[in-house]
Amino acid sequence: TDAGKSTAKWVLVTGGAGYIGSHAVAELIESGYRCVVVDNFCNSCYEPIARLQVLTNTKIPFFKVDLMDGPALEKVFQQYNIDSVIHFAGLKAVGESTKVPLTYYHNNITGTVVLLQTMKKYGTTKLVFSSSATVYGDATRFPNMIPIPENCPTGPTNPYGKTKLLIEEILEDLHTSEPEKWRFAVLRYFNPIGAHPSGLIGEDPLGIPNNLLPYMAQVAVKRRDKLFVFGNDYDSRDGTPIRDYIHVVDLAKGHIAALKYLNVADNESGLCRAWNLGSGTGSTVLEVYKAFCKASNIVLPYDIVGRRAGDVLNLTAKPDRATEELKWKTHFKVADACSDLWKWATGNPYGYQVLGVADAFFN
Ligand code: NAD
Ligand code: WQD
Repeated sequence: TDAGKSTAKWVLVTGGAGYIGSHAVAELIESGYRCVVVDNFCNSCYEPIARLQVLTNTKIPFFKVDLMDGPALEKVFQQYNIDSVIHFAGLKAVGESTKVPLTYYHNNITGTVVLLQTMKKYGTTKLVFSSSATVYGDATRFPNMIPIPENCPTGPTNPYGKTKLLIEEILEDLHTSEPEKWRFAVLRYFNPIGAHPSGLIGEDPLGIPNNLLPYMAQVAVKRRDKLFVFGNDYDSRDGTPIRDYIHVVDLAKGHIAALKYLNVADNESGLCRAWNLGSGTGSTVLEVYKAFCKASNIVLPYDIVGRRAGDVLNLTAKPDRATEELKWKTHFKVADACSDLWKWATGNPYGYQVLGVADAFFN
């Protein structure tokens, strides 16, 4: 089955049509990696892949595959010499996960287990995993642990966050079973925002956006009337919650740094280690609101409403481990991310929807 398989090394990007995955593919190709992408389009479409090919002037092999479909995934491993995997594919909406927990456990856990089984079968041992700051739960319960270091006790408070923690534990168990073999980099993202500075790729949520920046962008392009700020009675400088917002391009570059780390350790033993990817600086909702108003030159209407269930006061990263070990840090500020988001939103007010000619072929 491997006849004709080239010896060139490929990085398999799962969920590469999604928001963060598509930005990572751009950075990977820019850094000289060959990428093959799989995605089932449950929260995306082909258009970003088509645009990435234009942006990078590179042919990007793409397979519409659900990770839970082992035989379909195997075909990719048969065709390409997969040296490492960056695993973005998963469902990510906190609120939805409380409504349909089984869908989240099935998709995220089973998808990852099938991926790992396939890697094992084909001898691929390196994986970078998209985890989340949500594994820390309400870190404010440990006041001396803000900003949050990686050794802060975990305690996710919703099914989505629990799938992330459980996958981290699965990776640890697999590494423990064959410690010389497996190399796992667990990246705990804080709040990714912004878009590629080209304006060609960006975040395109289906339906009503759950997250602050995409919601503001839709208000700015008049797809929504006003922003609702979920509570101003928190114990912060202006009463709104604090998050560590990170430009998606900085985040994408963190994956290159992690891959390099896994590769440099090549002749030594395996590893399974977590790194926070954040800026180390917290911003309140109203600070981000002001930054986006400035970038777009629009005074967005907003109402203060009640707190959103499950929200916590402060999630700010202590990113020192990534700085020291991965030699990675953020370069962009919230203001840069707001400008890039505005470029994306003005060029693509309805996201990828207006084009999508290629989707007819894949769907
Ligand atoms: P996204 O929804 O834009 O991208 C995920 C992609 O995975 C989508 O294109 C989706 O179609 C695909 N996918 C989902 N299940 C799949 C399956 N079973 N088989 C194949 N493809 C599948 O989300 P994103 O914001 O790019 O997030 C990427 C990863 O990072 C996710 O694992 C998410 O949980 C994690 N993460 C995201 C954030 C955030 O705020 N965006 C923060 C922390 C962690
Ligand atoms: C940010 C702030 C809201 C929308 C989520 C996930 C987390 C991770 C990142 C995946 C909060 C406020 C928001 C709105 C608002 N994802 N807000 N009005 O909740 O910090 O993190 O995305 O792993 O797991 O929980 O991000 O963008 O939803 O909210 O006032 O319409 O903006 O209350 O303070 P969050 P967010």
